[in-house]
Amino acid sequence: MRRILVTSALPYANGHIHLGHLVEYIQTDIWVRFQRLQGNKTIYVCADDTHGTAIMIRAASEGRTEDDLIAEMSKSHQEDFSGFDIEFDHYGSTNSEANKETCNEIWESLNEADMVIEKEIEQLYDTDKEMFLADRMVRGTCPFCKTLDQPGDNCSKCGETYSPKDLIDPISKLSETVPETRTAKHLFVCIEKLHDFLDEWTQSGTLPPESSNYLKNYFLNEKLKDWDISRPSPYFGFEIPDSPGNYWYVWFDAPVGYIASTKEWCNREKESIDDWWKNDQTEIHHFIGKDIQYFHTLFWPAMLKASSYSLPTKIHIHGFLTVGGEKMAKSKGTFIRASTYLKHLNPSALRYYYASRLSSKVEDIDLNLEDFSTKVNADLVGKVINLASRTAKFVSDSGLSEKYPNDGGLFESAAQEGSEIAKDYENGNYSHAMRRILEIADKANPFVEQNAPWELRKDPEKSKELQDVCTIALNVFRQLAIYLAPVLPSLAKKTEELFGEPIQSWDQSLSPLTGIKINKFKHMMNRVDPKNIESMTEESKEEAAKELQSTQVEVESTNWNDSESPLEEEPLAEEISFDDFMKPDLRVARIVEAKDVPEARKLIQLTLSLGGDERRNVFAGIKSAYEPGELVGRLVVMVANLAPRKMKFGVSEGMVIASGPGGKEVYLVSPDEGALPGQRIH
Ligand code: 2FM
Ligand code: ZN
Repeated sequence: MRRILVTSALPYANGHIHLGHLVEYIQTDIWVRFQRLQGNKTIYVCADDTHGTAIMIRAASEGRTEDDLIAEMSKSHQEDFSGFDIEFDHYGSTNSEANKETCNEIWESLNEADMVIEKEIEQLYDTDKEMFLADRMVRGTCPFCKTLDQPGDNCSKCGETYSPKDLIDPISKLSETVPETRTAKHLFVCIEKLHDFLDEWTQSGTLPPESSNYLKNYFLNEKLKDWDISRPSPYFGFEIPDSPGNYWYVWFDAPVGYIASTKEWCNREKESIDDWWKNDQTEIHHFIGKDIQYFHTLFWPAMLKASSYSLPTKIHIHGFLTVGGEKMAKSKGTFIRASTYLKHLNPSALRYYYASRLSSKVEDIDLNLEDFSTKVNADLVGKVINLASRTAKFVSDSGLSEKYPNDGGLFESAAQEGSEIAKDYENGNYSHAMRRILEIADKANPFVEQNAPWELRKDPEKSKELQDVCTIALNVFRQLAIYLAPVLPSLAKKTEELFGEPIQSWDQSLSPLTGIKINKFKHMMNRVDPKNIESMTEESKEEAAKELQSTQVEVESTNWNDSESPLEEEPLAEEISFDDFMKPDLRVARIVEAKDVPEARKLIQLTLSLGGDERRNVFAGIKSAYEPGELVGRLVVMVANLAPRKMKFGVSEGMVIASGPGGKEVYLVSPDEGALPGQRIH
């Protein structure tokens, strides 16, 4: 028997659980249930990740304490998880005594190992709010690809990571003011001290090959950067014991929550924490998304190594969820909260659909809502449950045959398939496992069709034959329910009720049940009705609109300092027809090159891209307001069908749209994020 500790990433306490999160928790829960069926002692712990600036700011804006906010979110998260049959052995919080104590202990070890150093760093400071700004509290233009409006830690467009002070034109999200750079003392963990260890550990088969290969080059070429783990007050978190006024950065204490949550479970269950975190007979498995690999493959193992805790046995890394092939979008109703899903649809359907999409590769999975209903209905209702619903009623009096009848090898071959299915579960290849399970159903259904129990029952002389056919169909159904039990615990429960026998072990799929009574067949699962999918997406859209409204209310109450009489300064032009309006062909364009025209007082020469190889040369009179360097990369709106104009310095092939009276007050008009060069504006 293996002893296995399993974790999922700790969800942030500043947001609700949505279908994207559930890819991970459902995947982990399936793995845990599978291990238990295999007879392995397995515990599954998790917690809310509660610290950091985001929580502090949200609590303040809602006029309540952080404790109040995180208590509410913890309750809501746990309700969502349990609604999806995700069962933890313990669900803690990073804002707990156990976590503080474990952070202290690990901190001491890092100090003893001489891995903590102090450095002065420059950080952006919001003079209006009188605080240093966390990475995510700043937005600006990416210093690498020049995409506008990017967060302070990494670019959503080119993926580069950087420090917020490297952003071009940073703006504080808290006060919408331009922050200034100030110096502050921060504490760093020097993980380079463990370079060789980490290099070896990341190549030891613990990570998916994609991640190991990526890190191989990383270790070859780079010294590991010191990790900045302190944040100055005000910060919601734990104060660092030997550094008053400084707090551990949320990513320092978050993974420690894995240990702390285990400690709380141990206290409750009278187990020893050392058996779980300091014993090389215990396996530790982390399930995480690809976006937080860095923390789990470098920082976390370094912390564990320095403090003599066990290293993870395996880190299971998954991709993101797309819906209909696209990123989840609030406007399309595809950003779906777990609680909204549960109001309209059956959790088992999503568990099965995700299982049928998941592999051990670090790749994104798609939830195609049409395919979702077709697949769940065809596979689970049409092929699996059908085996029982069409036969159980005919043996409710007689029970199953005393001796298992000749089924042409159906049960035996399904029993043999069990070890392959188990391998697929173990390796996270759930989609293969589901395919194998459905292949068994595909063999069993024709058997029922051919033997037509509904015909046999009409002939009293065929009652033995009827009992045998139903015995076979029901036993194969039960095998399928066992194989699917990690994915569909609720189907497993109903199967237990039907046969009056608990499903506790994978090996129960090896021997058929005979000579027992069968309980009355009760409805096992509703079909997915596309109407419910529609109402779920509609409700998600409404929720998003409400959220937007509430932010608008906030926005309305701020003082915009707008001009009082803009139309007097420049009265509206004469009315035009719709056709007139359609004449200018306005396009989204990206500035790919910007050069000063030294001979011209006002002009900058722009090369605009309309996508693909389409380029236009445009002279724009914006020199008084913009530097060429700050323009490259940004999106603008251009009049693309303006007749070319010959100018002193070359031909101008269009115009970029801007507002303002001129001089320093020229404002280029930009489309919202997501617009693509070449798109028409109408
Ligand atoms: O990315 C996240 O949502 C983090 N809250 C995950 C933390 S995982 C662990 F390290 F605590
Ligand atoms: Zn970028």
